[in-house]
Amino acid sequence: MSAHARAAPFADEDQWLRNGRDAGGSYYSPLTDIDRGSVSRLGFAWDYHLGTKRGLEAAPLVIDGAMYAVGNWGRVYSVDAATGKERWRYDPQVDGQWGRYACCDVVNRGLAASGGTIYVGALDGYLHAIDANTGRRRWKVDTLIGRARRLPYTLTGAPVIAGDLVVIGNAGADFKGVRGYVSAYELKTGALRWRFFTVPRDPMLGPQDQPHLIRAIQTWDPRHRWEYGGGGTVWDGMSYDPELNLLYIGTGNASPYTIKEGGRRGGDDLYANSIVAIRADTGRMAWYYQIVPGDEWDYDATQKMILADLSIEGRARKVLMQASKDGFFYVLDRASGEFISAQNFAYVNWAKRLDPKTGRPQPNPDAEYLDKPRLIFPSMAGAHSWQPMSYDPATGLVYIPVIEAPMVYIETANRPAGLIEGNFTVAGLFPEDFDPESLRTLFGPLPSLNELARGTPKGAARSIGALKAWSPTLQKLVWQRPFATFWNGGVLSTAGGIVVQGDAAGFLNIYDAASGEMLKSLDVGTSLMAAPMTYRVAGKQYIAIMAGYGGGSGLYSPFPPASAAYRYGNEGRIVAFALDGAAPPKPPPVSEAPFEQPPAPAGTAQDIAHGGVLYNRFCGRCHVFGRGELPDLRRLSPATHAIFYDIVLRGIYASRGMGRFDDVLTRQDASDLHAYLIDRAWDAYQNERGAVRP
Ligand code: HEC
Repeated sequence: MSAHARAAPFADEDQWLRNGRDAGGSYYSPLTDIDRGSVSRLGFAWDYHLGTKRGLEAAPLVIDGAMYAVGNWGRVYSVDAATGKERWRYDPQVDGQWGRYACCDVVNRGLAASGGTIYVGALDGYLHAIDANTGRRRWKVDTLIGRARRLPYTLTGAPVIAGDLVVIGNAGADFKGVRGYVSAYELKTGALRWRFFTVPRDPMLGPQDQPHLIRAIQTWDPRHRWEYGGGGTVWDGMSYDPELNLLYIGTGNASPYTIKEGGRRGGDDLYANSIVAIRADTGRMAWYYQIVPGDEWDYDATQKMILADLSIEGRARKVLMQASKDGFFYVLDRASGEFISAQNFAYVNWAKRLDPKTGRPQPNPDAEYLDKPRLIFPSMAGAHSWQPMSYDPATGLVYIPVIEAPMVYIETANRPAGLIEGNFTVAGLFPEDFDPESLRTLFGPLPSLNELARGTPKGAARSIGALKAWSPTLQKLVWQRPFATFWNGGVLSTAGGIVVQGDAAGFLNIYDAASGEMLKSLDVGTSLMAAPMTYRVAGKQYIAIMAGYGGGSGLYSPFPPASAAYRYGNEGRIVAFALDGAAPPKPPPVSEAPFEQPPAPAGTAQDIAHGGVLYNRFCGRCHVFGRGELPDLRRLSPATHAIFYDIVLRGIYASRGMGRFDDVLTRQDASDLHAYLIDRAWDAYQNERGAVRP
């Protein structure tokens, strides 16, 4: 195409201007060049390496032929969307110490764009406005209220544009001390217009500071542990309906999860685990709908919401749809907040049923875990997490990336090792990670998985995934495709009659939107979690995806052997596809080096045992034994052993994302940790080599 034609304005259908592409957040594109028929010719177009091995969760934007993508810490990359050639990079310069405050990896879930400006929230809570052409910063504001007090807020969500405002939330309710809110800034200047708190403040501080909270405080136990902050953070889904001028936010769990601990009766805990509509111009609440009153299971209502116009029982309705973490698919009237319908899209046992009129759940007494560990469906990861679902108006179906997994919930407050640092006020373990023997030092004696699984469907105590095509009007499953892994990618659908989803095994799969038949599967060689997106430049349609494993569920466990992260490493990149492209270049397989001989054993048996408790409490959530996102600490080199204390207590690797721990560990603690790691390294070395420990 000529330069002249390229300079012409891009048609709307060629673009991907927002996180979910359209105002409704559908992750649906009207482009049809790549369709049911032609998709067999889909191949590799280009890739762009980000130089990271950590989780990538965002869908890039494409505006007038330029792509904008966000990676770890809130770093922004702009490339030519036709070639992948770099235009600019922007680094928000986040101190690596913040990696410790992120519950679920140093990820970011997307950008917002308006009027030639790109908006990004960096992990340390600053919102940046960047010139889309040059990558230079226009302004930067501090969105955190607790910075001076070091409250464990982080920022991983995408901002949303609402009229002349850019709105941003935050994360941190799995930790102690965070009170959720969203802030609205003027697009041009970054001036704060309003701030909306999702949960009440500690009544000891005085009367509630916002009108909607006067009612909310009535729903909290008067003896609630306010030092936990209340939670209810808005860490992912937000949408804006310009016609109604309503901003929709999804709120997370109240903190702590154990609202009934210590004989408290708990309460609904408004407006945690809710969908809330806010008038964008004033920041006042219009309505709320609480998904899980009195949540104890981390069933955030933060999943991305899709706004659509549906005909339900012969009536045209403006709806808001969410496949919630709690396993139910909700359809609400988005003008009034009225409950229309809900149905479970995965097996659940936390609730017995929902009230058909109000959607209010009747909790299952067997899902109370304060007295003893319980196997609860779904897991804390949710039956559906942040991975975008997609709505195709042609088929009328919503395509949901579903997680079919329970967790063993273990109340931790009275356990030998206490709270696991930064990692949830209640411990949750996937069946695959539940080994009573190795967990004994942390939690004391535990029942077997078989015992816990009694009364749940046979064979259900495992973690797998599925792509489900769901009819929101009939509230029923239309087709599904199973996966052996549970942590797969977000979904794209297009007017070409196709549904596109990546998986943990590293395949980009394309299905027939109506039947679910697999039309094409491309081996990308990198595990895929983010949603694919599509756009057109110079008359050519592309599909692009950010490739890289991690996030909450990718970081905490070793890579599943079936995953591409396990087999090929986890080099993060953006990969683009087009018709008549080549086979995607795959990274070379990674082979594990043999264990080196560790340094001489250190410490007493008691020191080593204490080190093991500290490891599980402070380190194991990032460093797993085996092949994972971060180094296996049994494999430290002699040089690293020599600087162990500088790394752990003085933060010399902070720039790599390894913060210092001298606020919670003494020199003796670090020494016990070191002794434990050396002991484990000897175990591994002996197992592998049959060598004898000195
Ligand atoms: C929030 C995540 C996180 C936690 C928790 C964490 N680390 Fe790290 N650690 C990292 C990152 C990120 C790196 C750097 C990885 C790299 O260089 O690519 C790292 C690197 C290290 C290294 C250097 C490894 C090498 O081979 O170069 C050591 C040693 C280490 N950590 C020890 C610990 C210990 C001990 C604890 C517990 C007290 C701990 N870490 C807890 C994230 C974490």
